[in-house]
Amino acid sequence: MNTVENIKDLRAQVKAWRMQDLTVAFVPTMGNLHEGHLALVKAAHRYADKVIVSIFVNPMQFGLSEDIDNYPRTLAQDKASLITVNTDLLFTPTADIIYPKGFGENSYVEVPNISELYCGASRPGHFRGVATVVCKLFNLVQPDVACFGSKDYQQLQVIKTMVEDLSMPVDIIPVEIIREKSGLAMSSRNGYLTSEELAIAPAFYKTLQWLSEQLRASHQPRDYAALVMQASEKIDNAGLKTDYLNLCHAQTLAPVTPNDKDIVILAAAYLGKARLIDNLPVNL
Ligand code: PAJ
Repeated sequence: MNTVENIKDLRAQVKAWRMQDLTVAFVPTMGNLHEGHLALVKAAHRYADKVIVSIFVNPMQFGLSEDIDNYPRTLAQDKASLITVNTDLLFTPTADIIYPKGFGENSYVEVPNISELYCGASRPGHFRGVATVVCKLFNLVQPDVACFGSKDYQQLQVIKTMVEDLSMPVDIIPVEIIREKSGLAMSSRNGYLTSEELAIAPAFYKTLQWLSEQLRASHQPRDYAALVMQASEKIDNAGLKTDYLNLCHAQTLAPVTPNDKDIVILAAAYLGKARLIDNLPVNL
């Protein structure tokens, strides 16, 4: 696996592959890789001849109160993991390369409406930072396809909307959530949890499963508000603190209406130093 840090070397490698008519799949990450990230790389191989992974802890998507300096950085370990899944090229730019003017002065991409809901409401500016860096990375890598995890469900919808609205020539491939045996969705942020908190954390996904069963069992008209409140209480009683728990239209993420069949439960909860997110699609 070749690793490049600068744009010139990245473009030279992509150009060489293009001259051979090879297709390129792209997996953007912030590193500290786990099986969830590696599942994206494995999926990417099914869609293209060559797979490029980026590791860049994007300052633009962190809020002022969020501790970017403590975000886990494990490059040597990440490289070893990426080799096991046959990554062809790793791109590890610095912030100066991505934001030479500083990101405050940079042009940006804003995906309206969907970016302001849920995680966007809890983390103002977060999805502007995500959309901007992903747009920039797409322009640098120019992939045919890009893989994103369904774990970050809202992020996936923001990226899909950006690509559609701006006619970007990239196919977005969603990849299913990889979970621990306990059901806890794998996340770099799980590393912030103590052993006591790790024992509590699985209650989060178990509650989403409980809510999904209640939704499918109950008859119309469903009392969505009461069920959501009960689920939030279950999460809080287990020792987490619900940030939000919502039933949404699976694509637009608008709050559920009685006619919606394809919905998704979206949730975030605080546990110790971590803010966990999870989701569960439900077909009614
Ligand atoms: P990061 O949190 O490192 O995640 C990179 C990719 O891995 C995302 O597409 C995310 O959804 C996916 N992923 C994380 N945990 C997963 C799991 N348990 N199962 C399946 N996929 C999982 O998301 C970001 O980085 C950034 O916002 C980024 C898109 C790179 C832009 O900076």
